[in-house]
Amino acid sequence: MESVLVLGVAGGSCSGKTTLTHFLKKYFGDDAAVLAQDSFYIDQSHKFDCDGGSVNFDHPDSIDFSLMGQCVSYLKESREVSIPIYDFATHKRSEEVQKVSSKKLVIIDGTLILSQEKVRGKLDLSFFIDAPENVRFQRRLERDTKERGRTEQGVKDQFYKQVKPMHDEWVEPSKTHATHIFPGTIDFSASSDLQAILEKIKKDLLL
Ligand SMILES: Nc1ncnc2c1ncn2[C@@H]1O[C@H](COP(=O)(O)OP(=O)(O)OP(=O)(O)O)[C@@H](O)[C@H]1O
Ligand SMILES: [Mg+2]
Repeated sequence: MESVLVLGVAGGSCSGKTTLTHFLKKYFGDDAAVLAQDSFYIDQSHKFDCDGGSVNFDHPDSIDFSLMGQCVSYLKESREVSIPIYDFATHKRSEEVQKVSSKKLVIIDGTLILSQEKVRGKLDLSFFIDAPENVRFQRRLERDTKERGRTEQGVKDQFYKQVKPMHDEWVEPSKTHATHIFPGTIDFSASSDLQAILEKIKKDLLL
């Protein structure tokens, strides 16, 4: 069986995980598959009340980590997986699934992946993106008001009621499990530290 390397990309919300994941995907091209924690949200549409904060999307209980861990195991065995499709507008899980084929490198993107043994235990390498709270807050404010139709007050309330407390309780302490830590404010394409690690991965995977 072909060996698969599983790389986790963790860090707080708006630390830059998806930005780094896209950069890695571009770097490794067709040799990399991506699995995002966001796909594994549990359907909580019946409880959701827009900006009211009745659902804590930043708590580990909002994510189906059992299913996510099982998908990572299958990808590690070079098997194809069917992953749920989550709709951010309705907070529902679609009836449809998305097929993801395994590749030599499997990248897992998520805030809480290093805090949960079910996923953490399956990672061969892990990057934690370390961005200060004010940077994460400003990026989130900008993204959610511009791209997700949210109000400034709603984003602010959610950040201080849920995002920050969950970050401090779950995300920040999980940093100790990371094999590598990168600042979230750097230009990933210009980082020689990152470049050196990626070259080593390429060599190890015979790419
Ligand atoms: N290194 C960086 N320098 C400057 N801006 C960045 C950097 N990384 C990310 N950003 C910007 O911050 C915003 C959020 O980035 P991104 O979507 O990658 O965060 P994330 O960690 O995936 O967030 P989430 O956990 O909420 O999905 C985007 O607007 C992105 O352009
Ligand atoms: Mg993201």
